[in-house]
Amino acid sequence: MLAAVQQAHRVDAPGYTCPMARERRSCATTLRVGRLVSVHSRIAVPIDLEVVASWIGSKRECELWAGPGIPFPLEPSALPAQIDMPGAMNVALVDGLGLAAFGQAIPRSPGRAHLARVIVRPDVRRQGMGRALVEALVSRAGKAGFSLITLYVYRDNAAAATLYSHLGFVRAERPPGHSSSPDSWFLQRSIGPATVGASAQ
Ligand SMILES: CC(C)(COP(=O)(O)OP(=O)(O)OC[C@H]1O[C@@H](n2cnc3c(N)ncnc32)[C@H](O)[C@@H]1OP(=O)(O)O)[C@@H](O)C(=O)NCCC(=O)NCCS
Repeated sequence: MLAAVQQAHRVDAPGYTCPMARERRSCATTLRVGRLVSVHSRIAVPIDLEVVASWIGSKRECELWAGPGIPFPLEPSALPAQIDMPGAMNVALVDGLGLAAFGQAIPRSPGRAHLARVIVRPDVRRQGMGRALVEALVSRAGKAGFSLITLYVYRDNAAAATLYSHLGFVRAERPPGHSSSPDSWFLQRSIGPATVGASAQ
């Protein structure tokens, strides 16, 4: 099932047209990940969430990915609305097997975008894909004019907390009105001019 869904998303699959190409925008930025594996960055589309849903096998994994607000089992057709896909910058990384990573940068206030729903396909974790995805999201937000990027991460999510820490995110005060959860940290990082476009070749 997973293989079938991923095949449908291969960039070289028959009939596949990159959504960015359909929009007459330059298709695919090539990124280099960890072991010099080439992946492409493109705008994520709702059908990508079918693949993402196939990577999430438990309520806890769902919570780590998307917080407490998304019901599990996931309903892929409901996900685009549940995660506010239309209001976000949605980024997909694609390798030779199809979708390899997904994440969002959501405009929250003037100058601030919030990173959310970051996930890497299980078979390519710990190879630099998460780093490439977050750098692509930060770059995208920077190009859109945001100067600050924030996120929540569960304290016991060692993989994600390490990833963000290595990318310069630090703990910060939650903005006014944000509910405080003892289970998660609020992190932030500023987006400097040097960061914008740094991940694109
Ligand atoms: C968190 C996640 C995106 C990381 O993706 P990844 O592709 O494995 O990350 P990378 O290979 O780019 O690793 C980035 C850094 O994090 C560290 N890291 C990754 N996984 C780790 C783990 N399980 N334990 C400790 N450190 C880890 C790496 O050592 C690496 O450090 P480096 O930059 O010094 O080399 C991935 O584990 C995932 O999809 N998890 C499920 C969804 C999730 O929890 N999302 C986070 C929402 S806040």
